[in-house]
Amino acid sequence: MVVGLGSGSTARLAVRHIGELLRAGELTDIVGIPCSTTTEAVAQEYDIPLTTLEAHPVIDLTIDGADEVDPALNLIKGGGGALTREKIVAQASKREIIIVDESKLSPILGTTWAVPVEVVPFGYGPQQRYLESLGAVVTLRLDKSGHPFHTDQGNIILDCNFGPIAQLPELAHRIKQRTGIVEHGLFIGMATEVIVAGIDGIRHLRRDT
Ligand code: A5P
Repeated sequence: MVVGLGSGSTARLAVRHIGELLRAGELTDIVGIPCSTTTEAVAQEYDIPLTTLEAHPVIDLTIDGADEVDPALNLIKGGGGALTREKIVAQASKREIIIVDESKLSPILGTTWAVPVEVVPFGYGPQQRYLESLGAVVTLRLDKSGHPFHTDQGNIILDCNFGPIAQLPELAHRIKQRTGIVEHGLFIGMATEVIVAGIDGIRHLRRDT
């Protein structure tokens, strides 16, 4: 089985568990495709065999986290900055399973989280103005030392607070139209399942197809 290994603190728990199952011999014959260099390091630490999308362009199953999930299982992702690789992996996946706690559930995307937008650093000012013209309050993401955060691709992230987003596909389309914008953190129709941990236990949500 080819398994997409997601990014972020929740997905990391799943990646570690996969590693532990492999070490215990309870899981065999899998290869992983990590969604970030950070996840790659965790997978290597646990000796999870890794492959690439060139060698395996179709992924059987990906397990990833999310920042905000709406009732139709659309997502905002990219709180950790890995949105572009996460979306490349998600679109190559037959099953995209998102694991979250119930604090991530939201009636409408944009209510609790800004949309991360990955932008080429060169001349990003006009892209910021463009995103503002679409209604966003835009913040350049900084790292812990106060410098611009850089993605695994060497790009920057503009966190775009649109407030609750009524027209998701239209907004996603308009963001992608601008040269210099690489990707955004709206994952529309990509999650096939969401597993939600709450105080009453685990719920397994499936997308209507
Ligand atoms: C990484 O870029 C993100 O898309 C994560 O999947 C998302 O931010 C969830 O992260 P946590 O599991 O750490 O909340």
